[in-house]
Amino acid sequence: MCGIVGAIAERDVTPILLEGLRRLEYRGYDSAGLAVLDSKHHLQRARKPGKVAMLEQALSASPIHGTVGIAHTRWATHGEPTESNAHPHICNQTVAVVHNGIIENHDTLREQQRAKGYTFTSDTDTETIVHEIYENHINKGLDLLAAVQATVKGLHGAYALGVISKQDPQRLITARMGSPLVIGVGIGEYFIASDVAALLPVTRRFIFLEEGDVADLTRQSLRIFDRTGKQVEREIKESELSADAVELGQYRHYMQKEIFEQPRAIADTLEGRIVNDQVIEQSFGHQASEIFEQIKEVRIIACGTSYHAGLIASYWFESLADIPCRVEVASEFRYRQPHLRKNTLVVTISQSGETADTLAALKEAKASGNVHSLAVCNVAESSLTRESDLILLTRAGPEIGVASTKGFTTQLTALLLLVLVLGRRHGISAKREKELVHHLEQVAAKVEKVLEMDESIRLLSEQFGDKEHALFLGRGTMYPVAMEGALKLKEISYIHAEAYPAGELKHGPLALVDSEMPIIAVAPNNELLEKLKSNLQEVRARGGKLFVFADGEAGFKSEVDVTVLDVESINDVIAPIIFSIPLQLLSYHVAVIKGTDVDKPRNLAKAVTVE
Ligand code: M6R
Repeated sequence: MCGIVGAIAERDVTPILLEGLRRLEYRGYDSAGLAVLDSKHHLQRARKPGKVAMLEQALSASPIHGTVGIAHTRWATHGEPTESNAHPHICNQTVAVVHNGIIENHDTLREQQRAKGYTFTSDTDTETIVHEIYENHINKGLDLLAAVQATVKGLHGAYALGVISKQDPQRLITARMGSPLVIGVGIGEYFIASDVAALLPVTRRFIFLEEGDVADLTRQSLRIFDRTGKQVEREIKESELSADAVELGQYRHYMQKEIFEQPRAIADTLEGRIVNDQVIEQSFGHQASEIFEQIKEVRIIACGTSYHAGLIASYWFESLADIPCRVEVASEFRYRQPHLRKNTLVVTISQSGETADTLAALKEAKASGNVHSLAVCNVAESSLTRESDLILLTRAGPEIGVASTKGFTTQLTALLLLVLVLGRRHGISAKREKELVHHLEQVAAKVEKVLEMDESIRLLSEQFGDKEHALFLGRGTMYPVAMEGALKLKEISYIHAEAYPAGELKHGPLALVDSEMPIIAVAPNNELLEKLKSNLQEVRARGGKLFVFADGEAGFKSEVDVTVLDVESINDVIAPIIFSIPLQLLSYHVAVIKGTDVDKPRNLAKAVTVE
């Protein structure tokens, strides 16, 4: 999704803006641009379709410098990824704007502005904002701050904005509603960004703007106004992230790095949350006991990989904790007038905490008035955590690769903690909790062991390089694990992949099976093993090529058309976490063989902040 960086300083801000854009590249984008006010207070702009590197090349050929500036990476929504649609957008060589989000009433604004004779140079919704600020407000006598405040009142939809003007060259104005925006606090300088990662080389002190805030930054001062226009104070928070937390280090890709970071990320997610073999309820927030006491059922809402984590958790909630649990894709939930019973715990799951559909679904759920909310999220200061009653942070650290890996396994770890605390009130005995905690505490070490399969999976992946389709099979919790495996493979290798519960094969998908169709099965040693084996026989009988990730004790043997990879033998409850790892490695290596852009697959963005 789009990224914003801005700065106001005594020094030249162009290098800061460029470094910020590079650090936002992981979010996905298809053009980049920046604008600065130069020493004569003229607006200078450079924009390029494609990568930030193209913008850098353009800037080394024709450098621009200034002490106030804004920059942007654009992920095309309204209009193609061309130079003219790239941000910043400028009106009358005077005001420049960068914008994340979508303005829903842009058609109406455009019609009104056309009627007044304004001319457009792009197809974007953003251009209506810059016309509104300059033509409709500054031209009528408002200063830059007042013009932005007046403009945002008329915007419907989501926005994070950075605005500069040559008539007000010592100011940078920013505003947010529905799209994230942080202010970085320096010494005699301020910065803005859509993500703290962009600013880590220049500051670790951040202010997280709230919905409807507008901020007025000069080099020496900062004023924030809330949605009513009242001046407010917002706390400065110190980020624990270091600038090199987002460096690649010894790895070839972020996804690879993040796969190998999983033992640490899982251990960090458990750290300090278990004492005397019991999960500490306060880890979820100070109101946790009071809220958990009332909960009779759980509704999980999420998208993509986080949705798959929710599906696995639903098996745990019902089988371990005896709590009814339903899981829904956020984009469906938000529009279907769902019925939520009193005493439902609405659990949203999101790595980024900024996924537009998940946020909107949570708002919908809260509007029903009956529910309590809990967010399982990886970003402490995200919109989702701010909107939720209770929070359990996954401590995966920044996830840069678009394909979620450590985000997923830490979500599962966190969700299992939740199952245990809620389950305590619904029949999980202290003895059973102790047993399960013991298994959880072994997960990091088991993941470490499974990562040793890397080389054998790399060799296996060579058999997938020329494939166009793949089928993933599992039963029980291994069905959502298979769904996640299929999502990973399609997302980064562009191989069409589907997942089925193995028992569904003969209800349709078996028709697809032939010698060209690789079939990947996940087979832990559990009570469904014999059923799964029968399903796999159905595949073999039709000439399908099987690749089985199996518990070492499940009794599978490699033979013609059957390749078996032994996975650590483990307890069935934690099996979904462990079995996800080889599937991540498989899709990673297949993508490398296919030469795709592993960390930034085509058409996708890291945080889907628009609907
Ligand atoms: O940040 P979120 O967890 O809310 O993101 C949800 C999905 O967009 C995300 O999981 C997506 O499916 C990933 N690219 C999958 O690898």
